[in-house]
Formats: sequence, structure tokens, C-alpha cells
Amino acid sequence: MLPDIMAAALNEQIKVEAESSQIYLAMASWAEVKGFEGIAAFMFKQSDEERLHMLKLLKYVNQRGGYAVVSALDEPRLDYSSFSVLFRQLYEHEVKVSASINNLVDIALTHKDYATHNFLQWYVSEQIEEEAQAKVILDKIDLIGDSKGGLYMFDNDMKNFTSQGHNIVQ
Ligand SMILES: [Fe+2]
Ligand SMILES: [Fe+2]
Repeated sequence: MLPDIMAAALNEQIKVEAESSQIYLAMASWAEVKGFEGIAAFMFKQSDEERLHMLKLLKYVNQRGGYAVVSALDEPRLDYSSFSVLFRQLYEHEVKVSASINNLVDIALTHKDYATHNFLQWYVSEQIEEEAQAKVILDKIDLIGDSKGGLYMFDNDMKNFTSQGHNIVQ
């Protein structure tokens, strides 16, 4: 049985992951309309991944005798004034998510919920990946600046970019 405080915190995280999915989806739609196919494809894929993060939590809460709540989501508020600004927000968002995962680990340990602690390890490693990936993309974008040719190539690279392989830095 999940401690109540743990169930509540995991439910909060369900919302965080669902909102992450919406954020990536909003960026995907923006990139698609702007004609950046590669960036859009990457964002759509990320959006799906965040939904899977959400589902995994939802199923875990229910499996442990809790009740996973599907709540209303905040609308993504994003500044699209430049790619650099946009990808910085993405990076900062992932850093924030890492902090909330760390907080969940903290609650699990404080309440001796070792099953949840074990479950959360997947999210800990996943966040290392996600933060690193967001940072690689941000560094790349900062390097390119407003160069049209650079952005064109960047968009092409993004088609091959996956969360596993950081082939964009090669
Ligand atoms: Fe996530
Ligand atoms: Fe993420």
C-alpha cells in the first residue's frame, strides 16, 4: 500500500508529465507550421514519450492500491521569439522535472517506501538523459544563432536525433 503522501506526490508528477507532453506538443505544432519538419518530428516524438512517462506513473499508483487522478492541465505558455529562447525553456523545463523527481525520491526514502524508491530509479536515469539531450540541443542552437543555413542543417539533424543517440553532436 502506498503511503498517502507518496500517492499525492506521484499524482502531482502524473500532472507534471502530462503537462510536459503538452509543452512538447505545442512546440511540435509551432515547428510544423514554420516548416521545420525535423524539429517538429522530434517534438512529436518527445510528446509521446512524456505521455508514456505519465502512463507508467498512473499504472504504478493504481497497482500499489492508490488511485491515479487524471486532472486538468495548465496550458503551455511558451515564448517563441527565437529558437534559442524556445530551447532554453525546454531545457529549464527538464531541469525542473528532474527536481520534482528528486523530491519524489526524497519522500519515498523519508517514508521508507522502498518499492516506490525502486520504481523511481527508472525516472532518475531517464531524467539524466532528457536533461543532457536538452542541453546538447540548446548548445547547438546557441552556436548556430540566427543563421538560416545553420537552422536548415539543424532541422535536418533533428530528424535523426533520438533520446538514446546524441548523433547531433557528431
Ligand atoms: Fe518525463
Ligand atoms: Fe522530459
